[in-house]
Amino acid sequence: MIKKGIILAGGHGSRMSPLTKAVNKQLLPLYDKPLIFYPLSILMLAGIKNILIIVNKGQLNQFRKILPEKNNLGIKIEYKEQLKPAGLPQAFTIGEKFIGKDNVCMILGDNFFYGQSLTKILKKNSVFQSGAKVFLHPVKNPQNYGVAFLNSKNKVIKLVEKPKKTKSNLAVTGLYFFDSKVIDLSKRLKPSKRGELEIIDLLNLYKSKKKLKAEFIGRGGAWLDTGNVKDYYSASNFISTIESRQGLKIACLEEIAFNNGWIKKNNILESIKFYGNCNYSKYLKSIIK
Ligand code: TTP
Repeated sequence: MIKKGIILAGGHGSRMSPLTKAVNKQLLPLYDKPLIFYPLSILMLAGIKNILIIVNKGQLNQFRKILPEKNNLGIKIEYKEQLKPAGLPQAFTIGEKFIGKDNVCMILGDNFFYGQSLTKILKKNSVFQSGAKVFLHPVKNPQNYGVAFLNSKNKVIKLVEKPKKTKSNLAVTGLYFFDSKVIDLSKRLKPSKRGELEIIDLLNLYKSKKKLKAEFIGRGGAWLDTGNVKDYYSASNFISTIESRQGLKIACLEEIAFNNGWIKKNNILESIKFYGNCNYSKYLKSIIK
């Protein structure tokens, strides 16, 4: 079972500059909510209530304003700072005490996932026992991502970071399951040529021990990039289109918590007070009607 989740929400945000000069990327609006609501909603949909958010040095208070440790979501939030964005596997050394001897799900703070197939996969995978698991999704531009090569039995045979030319279009998304061995394995990693610890190197350590599994998000699910301005706005438009059509919100945290039975009507009323007079609050009112 996975009961703990890490959201890695630091980073350089250099491709989004100047937007990210004063504000952390994960706090920018993705349509009608801060970006971080979306990966947090995925952890909550997976039934994870114990959450560590890793942020850049000096940014704790920005995050606390919107996601305080004492919240009305029925979840336990902890924060840690990453002194310098030196690579994704640092999440596991920073989170060593938080992880302890438990399995952990890590999600990148700028990753947007959507679709019923994803919720089903998460529920199915909550029985994860040991090793590591990656979630793959086909993309048109695999050269921008970590890419997985599979054999005819759908087993991962190779993982390559941003290959210049590739026959596989299966990108490794920013959602991972790991057992607690991830802490020691991360400590063994050496920085790559670009000076960062690489998640692909960490996954390759699991693969060499035959402990790496892969799951497909599939065509029924969406995984959208929010790393550059153009993709960010496309993702924003996607959310706007779906929400306007359905009258339902994507990543309404209180709605997920309420449906999970983690919070009561009273908590939602508190949230409405906190957010003030806005569309998000109107939506919250409709949930408890
Ligand atoms: P990246 O997309 O690798 O980088 P970035 O967000 O810093 O942006 P850019 O490439 O434009 O400079 O990061 C993926 C996610 O992981 C993102 O949510 C930021 C986060 N991250 C950290 O929190 N710490 C890190 O050391 C790195 C490398 C990323």
